[in-house]
Amino acid sequence: MLFKQQALLRQKLFVLGSLAIGSLLYLVARVGSLDRLQPICPIEGRFGARSQAEIPLRALQFKRGLLHEFRKGNATKEQIRLHNLVQQLPKAIIIGVRKGGTRALLEMLNLHPAVVKASQEIHFFDNDENYAKGIEWYRKKMPFSYPQQITIEKSPAYFITEEVPERIYKMNSSIKLLIIVREPTTRAISDYTQVLEGKERKNKTYYKFEKLAIDSNTCEVNTKYKAVRTSIYTKHLERWLKYFPIEQFHIVDGDRLITEPLPELQLVEKFLNLPPRISQYNLYFNATRGFYCLRFNIVFNKCLAGSKGRIHPEVDPSVITKLRKFFHPFNQKFYQITGRTLNWP
Ligand code: A3P
Repeated sequence: MLFKQQALLRQKLFVLGSLAIGSLLYLVARVGSLDRLQPICPIEGRFGARSQAEIPLRALQFKRGLLHEFRKGNATKEQIRLHNLVQQLPKAIIIGVRKGGTRALLEMLNLHPAVVKASQEIHFFDNDENYAKGIEWYRKKMPFSYPQQITIEKSPAYFITEEVPERIYKMNSSIKLLIIVREPTTRAISDYTQVLEGKERKNKTYYKFEKLAIDSNTCEVNTKYKAVRTSIYTKHLERWLKYFPIEQFHIVDGDRLITEPLPELQLVEKFLNLPPRISQYNLYFNATRGFYCLRFNIVFNKCLAGSKGRIHPEVDPSVITKLRKFFHPFNQKFYQITGRTLNWP
């Protein structure tokens, strides 16, 4: 009897031991595969005078944690000096388009270890009061970064504001400009939805989209309505082209960024001359949210705020058809100028 119990105990211990060893082996393998997903090879600092410099990616990732502390204001001046951190003017700007997916694009690019984002929209070039404060004010609004990293900011109002192209040109005539666009009618409805939500929050009433988008006297598309005007991408782009050659722009397909973000991000990495570092590991689909969310590492992941991905109100199909017909020739021109065809209706 005693012998039988001992044998049973030995058997149990064996099973438990095997389980423990198995789990350990799994963990080792998992961490190993994560290491491979977060590559450890050196990354080239391809910008500016430090183009020959190389920073080990692992070091950068470690430092990102530190950068986060700096952003929160928890760093001392000594730490900043010690780590050689600087506040750099942006090397690339997401200039628009409002509701195109500008926040998603910025956050996703920030997954790249060589990219540092300005978290807030700075509105330096479109706001006269801010602009009058001068370029040093703007630089001081930038996050701390390592000299080999590039800073990116986004302020979607830049795309449609008259004075902005000239002002950005004066700061840096070779800056890289990112424009994220969505199918123009969908973008206009998204724009309307955001304004509507603001009105509802203040307990105010607002017009229906149809009333704003269509001129009730002529029954034609109301080109005075801002949400319509913003979606005439080619008109705005033409103003920018007076200052910058088309090679300095990259068009991001905002509709594809929603459904298939990685290939869009890889095109941006290429445009920015960054080594490809954003992988499928960094992006996972969250069924509850209905969108891709971001995975920085094994412990830190995040989805965009609830204000991104609102439910749009239903719009009369005849109004949608009218708008799509209206935008069609402008879209054709946009494809022609940018060299990117987006298969919009
Ligand atoms: P909707 O709210 O109309 O769905 P912006 O940041 O320029 O204001 O753009 C907001 C839009 O980003 C949202 O518009 C949403 O569709 C889109 N978007 C793209 N990728 C997203 C993501 N991963 N999570 C949430 N929204 C995303």
